[in-house]
Formats: sequence, C-alpha cells, structure tokens
Amino acid sequence: MAEFDFDILKEKFSAYADGFIAESEDPGPFLLKKEHTFRVCRNIRRIAAGIDCCSKDLLPAETAALFHDIGRFRQFREYGTFVDAVSENHALLSCRVIDENNLLDGYGAEEKKRIKDAVFYHNMYAPPNGIDDSTLLLTRLLRDADKLDILDVVTRRYLSGDNEQSNYVILYLTDDGKVSPALLEDLFEKRVITGSKVERLNDLKLLQISWIFDLNFDASIQTTITNGYMEKIFSTMPQSDDLIHAKSFIDSYISEKIHRQ
Ligand SMILES: [Fe+2]
Repeated sequence: MAEFDFDILKEKFSAYADGFIAESEDPGPFLLKKEHTFRVCRNIRRIAAGIDCCSKDLLPAETAALFHDIGRFRQFREYGTFVDAVSENHALLSCRVIDENNLLDGYGAEEKKRIKDAVFYHNMYAPPNGIDDSTLLLTRLLRDADKLDILDVVTRRYLSGDNEQSNYVILYLTDDGKVSPALLEDLFEKRVITGSKVERLNDLKLLQISWIFDLNFDASIQTTITNGYMEKIFSTMPQSDDLIHAKSFIDSYISEKIHRQ
C-alpha cells in the first residue's frame, strides 16, 4: 500500500465516524473519539519517527492508530458508555468493525493480521507473551500513542474543574476525596493499576499516573515531562501524606528513566 493511500483510509474512518456524529443528539462523545483518533495517529508517527523504526512500519502503525478505537462509536451508541466492563471489549469490537467494513483492504493478509492484532492488544493489561517482534513493536507504539493522548485529554478535564459536563471522560466516577489504599500499594510496587480496582475518581487518576510504568519509548516519557501530565494530575488530588509520597516516588522514577537514556 502506497503512502498516499493513508488519506483514503482517513476518509473511510471520517465517513464512518461522521455517520454517528450526524445521527446523534449529543455528538460530544463521538467527536471526542474522532479527535482522539487523529491525535493518536499524530502521536504514533512522532514516536515511531524517534526510534529506529524502518519506514515500512510507519504506515501500518498509523493505520492501527486510525482504527484502534473505531469500535467506540458503536459501543457508545449501543450502550451509552465507554466502560468496557459494563458493555463490551471495545478493542474486539474495533476488530469486528474493521472486518465488517473491509477497512484494511489493500493490505496483504499478514499485514492485516499484524494491524488487527495490535488493535486487539491495545487495551490489554499487557501485550501477551510470545507475539512476534513486528506485532509487538506496533502494539507498543499504539499503546504509548493512545496513553499519551488520554493523559492529555484527562489532564485538561481535571484542571478545568468541569464536574458536570463530559462525565463520560471520567467514566462517571464520583470524587469523594478518597483514594483506595490498595492502589497506592500497586504504585509503590511500580505496577500498572488495573481498571477493575477503580472505585472513585482519585483511583482513576492514580491508574492513569501508573501508566508511566507502561510507556515503552523514551519519546513517550519525554512527552509526559514536557506536558507535566503527572504533576498536573497530582495537583488535582488531595494533598495527603500518602499522595505527596506517591508524587515524589513518581518524580524519582521519571528522573531515573531519563538519566538512563
Ligand atoms: Fe481504546
């Protein structure tokens, strides 16, 4: 597939997304995912350009980014939520939408599988063991590019103090001013927090902070520093001893990572 063909894929994606936007009385959630997708495409290109990623990987990587969340549109229309646990796995749904709409026509069977696998793995706790190197590269690029944009969106949401609008961004969680202690334990063990442990808004914030342990590329860590994601999220949480300690723990982790580069 030639480089210019990505524009055709983008048009296909836009036409699909715009169908949902046009028919909805509240297009906000669909617009959010459409805009998120284009930013993830830009992120993945930027991260891939910064590593020794041969040019043959750029187009599949961008394509995986373009379709990674395409299942979100049907998910929100059918269930009114982006929470997979109470609807369905949106990555799997994205793979189904890709197939049903023949979105990867033009790619060979092997490349198609690699892209769909990366989409399927993008929201897993971790990529499965034993996947081949080229699929793992695509998966890691996608996971980083996706996380960086989510961090950007939620940071803006938390700092805006907008507690009424766009609650789908914060998965309808309420802010009771508390943090679940088990999550702090995960953080201090440098473990990514699982979604099933999230009970309140501060838990979600800690989960997003814990993504720092799952960023695969130096450029991604750099982006979190440049944009101050971690400190901005912490600034919207209670200034308890535990959380002050957590913040300095994350700060040290980041400086250690950077000095190793
Ligand atoms: Fe996703």
